[in-house]
Order: sequence, then structure tokens, then C-alpha cells
Amino acid sequence: MKDRSCLAVVLAAGEGTRMRSARPKVLHQIAGRSLLAHVLMAVAEAGVATTAVVIGPGQETVAAEAKLVSAGTECFVQNERRGTAHAVLAAKSALKRKVDDIVVVYGDTPFIRPATLARLRAPLAAGAAVAVLAFRPRDPTGYGKLIVAGGELVAIREEADASASERAVALCNGGIMALAGAHALAILQRIGDRNRKREFYLTDAVEIARDMNLEAVAVEVEEDDVRGINTKSQLAEAEAVAQERLRRAALDAGVTLVAPETVFLSSDTRLGRDVVIEPYVVFGRNVIVEDGAVIHSFSHLDGAHVGKGASVGPFARLRPGTRLGEGVRIGNFVEVKEAAIEAGAKVNHLSYVGDASVGANANVGAGTITCNYDGREKHRTVIGAKAFIGSNSALVAPVEIGAGAYVGSGSVITENVPANALALARGRQVVKEGAATRLRALKSIGKKKGHPRD
Ligand code: UD1
Ligand code: CA
Repeated sequence: MKDRSCLAVVLAAGEGTRMRSARPKVLHQIAGRSLLAHVLMAVAEAGVATTAVVIGPGQETVAAEAKLVSAGTECFVQNERRGTAHAVLAAKSALKRKVDDIVVVYGDTPFIRPATLARLRAPLAAGAAVAVLAFRPRDPTGYGKLIVAGGELVAIREEADASASERAVALCNGGIMALAGAHALAILQRIGDRNRKREFYLTDAVEIARDMNLEAVAVEVEEDDVRGINTKSQLAEAEAVAQERLRRAALDAGVTLVAPETVFLSSDTRLGRDVVIEPYVVFGRNVIVEDGAVIHSFSHLDGAHVGKGASVGPFARLRPGTRLGEGVRIGNFVEVKEAAIEAGAKVNHLSYVGDASVGANANVGAGTITCNYDGREKHRTVIGAKAFIGSNSALVAPVEIGAGAYVGSGSVITENVPANALALARGRQVVKEGAATRLRALKSIGKKKGHPRD
């Protein structure tokens, strides 16, 4: 397959009305990645060199996503939605370039696998002009039916145009099709709109090819491979399928998932060996967890890199730009954002560490807050190696705490603290001997206000 050039045409001009959403259908996500990105990545992995995406008018956000996922993608606008063949022809200038194979895929069919695309293209290498992905759906309503005569694929009939006997056919069109580059334009341009819906059906390519004495074949696959998304319910079902696959892959790779069904992964989540994920953990995009780290229950990670043997949570939130070194400990109710925390450092309880760097083996006490935002701009906090930040301290950024420095608890630090210095920045404690007893003796206190009895 490697020696045959290939163009993929991704159809994404649909309005996706049934999603009932302001967002174009193909931009909805499964496992932290848009439907379109799933398709484009499968196409790229299948070794397809050039990709054209057909979008609807005004769908700039779809074009932007396509370019983000694969920079070389060309986008074509289908101004009127007049059917799948009409949509493919929107990319005419790309079709005109000489390629061996043209694969048409749908932007809303996210589970298409590279291996399946390779199977679909194989008959073209053997001389066929059209290859169609076929499947036997549990519920065949709404799909085009594959009409086979004498063991050969002769036509695809859309449900609206099918006779009663054709409607009973179990083998359906998955929608994904491969066309020989040499014949594709000639076939596509012969497709008309003489059908119930007055649309230009790509499926007519089969009958036309046969009419031209060319061969059309069906390649049968599992239903999941061609599962399309039209509604929010189907999106949720697809998410469940994707999560199941990702969990299985993680387990197979040596990750311990104590309760797999409660862990939510992203397509790009990377978990090392002997990583332990406790129940109820959510991974957003772009998370790497290195070998032997433990993510305790109810933690939420997004754009974070967790180093070897680190411990996170329970109830921790790691936001984008978090980098934890080896053996770092992030405890309960700690939020970290855009911060590098070096090996062996600890932030164990109730803290916010944002726009910061924390040196190796530093200890950030309970309730420490980096005050990184002054209402207009973000500022950085730098904490040196082995520094000790006492509990309930506010570090008002920009500020630097030197290596080995000690900040007394309850401090509000507004100026840099040199290395190995001790900084105390809080109100002085006042003690008045016996004053509490005198206070209690005052009638107004205690009974009326309901203070605890002595
Ligand atoms: C299509 C097939 C049907 C197949 C089914 C599989 C045709 C005529 N029918 O039907 O045989 O069983 O898929 O799911 O091809 N699109 C455009 N522009 C258009 C029309 C469609 O970009 O003018 C895109 C849609 O965004 C979608 C894809 O093409 O991604 C399929 O269109 P859709 O209307 O869903 O086709 P079906 O009626 O489901
Ligand atoms: Ca459809």
C-alpha cells in the first residue's frame, strides 16, 4: 500500500441538526479529541499523504481544527448540501491531481481504524474501481443496502429508494468508500440526482462503475468501525466505547486501574508501567504519568506531567503546565497550574501553586497560596530547593524564596527572601494573662450568644 499514492476526502459539511448544538457536529469530542481529529489521525496513520476536508459554509472553526490536527490539510467549502457525491466534488481540484487511490471518509465516523482503511484500499491495488465498507448493523434502518447479484456487488440502494425486498437486505453501506484515482472523476461526474431526495448520492458510484465495465467490491467490517454519530445519545455511547478501549489498552500496558469503569481517559493520555490509578480519576488532554506514580481517588488532571513515583491526591487538581518531578507529593485539595515542582518536593494539603517553580525537596505547608494574579496580570513565584513554607502563608508574586529559606506560618510574603533566611511576616501575638476568665465572667458573653459552657 505504501507505494500507492492516496488522497483522503473527509466529508464534514453536514449541519448535524440532530445534535441540537451550536457547535458543528464534527467538533464534538470523544475521549478528549474532536470527531474530526479522530478521523484525520486515523487517515494520517494509514499513510495517506494528502487530505481534503469538505466543510459547510461559515464553518471556519472546522477548518481551523482540521489545520490544527494536520497542517497540510486543504479545506473545501460545499456551499449547498446536495448529497455525498456533490460533497466529494467540492474537492474537485484535489481530485484532479493524479493519485492512485481516493478514500472518502465521514467526519462523524470516529472509530475508523488505519488497518480498516488499508483493507478497503487493497482491492484497488488488485484492479477494482470502487470498494465499499460494508457491515451488518444490529438495526439496519436508514442505511444504504448492498445489492449483490451472482456474488458481485452491483448497486447500493438508499432506504428511501429501496423496494421491500431490497430493504430486507442485511448487508449495509458503512459510508466509507475507496475509488481508483484513474476513474474517480469520470464516475463522480456521471452521478445524477434522480432519486427520492433529489441528492447526488455517492453510493451510485457502484452502479456507474459497473456500467463502465469496472469492478466494485464490498469489504465487510464490524459495526463499531463504521459507527456514525448523529445525536448526543450516540455521542455518549461512542464515548463509552472509546473509554472501554482506552482502559483496556492501559491495563494491557501494565497500568493498575483499581476500578477501571470509574476512570476517564483521553485518547492521548500516557500512563507508565506500574502506575496506579485509584477509583474516580479524570484525565483531560495531554497528560503523562511516569512509571510507578500513584493517582489517588477523585483527582482531575489536565495538561500535566507527573514524574516517576510521584503521588497525587486524593482530591487534587493538576491543571495545564504542571510538571511534577520524581517522587513529588501533591496531597488533598491542592491545585497546581503552570508550575514545575522538582523532585522530592511536597505540597501536601489545601494549597494553590500557580505560575511557580518549587525547588527539589522543598516543603510547602498546608494552606499556602501563591497570589499570582493582581487583577490584571499573572506573576511568578519561585521557591528554592529545600525551602520550607509554613502553613497558611500567602506568597504575593512576583516573589522569590531562596533555597533553604524558612517562612514562618501565617506569613504574607511580599518581598524576596534570601537563601537560608528566616522570614516572618505576620501580626505580632498579644497575650493578656487571665483576660479570658474575666471575659467569661461578663454577663453578655456565654449564655446569650450561646458560647460553649466551661
Ligand atoms: C450515507 C450513505 C448510506 C450509508 C450511510 C452510512 C449516501 C447517499 N448514503 O447515508 O448509504 O449507509 O451514509 O452512515 O451516501 N455530507 C456532506 N454534504 C452533503 C451530504 C452529506 O458533507 O451534501 C456528509 C455528512 O456531513 C456526513 C456524510 O456526508 O458526514 C454522510 O451524510 P449523511 O447525510 O449522514 O448520509 P446518510 O443519509 O446517513
Ligand atoms: Ca449519517
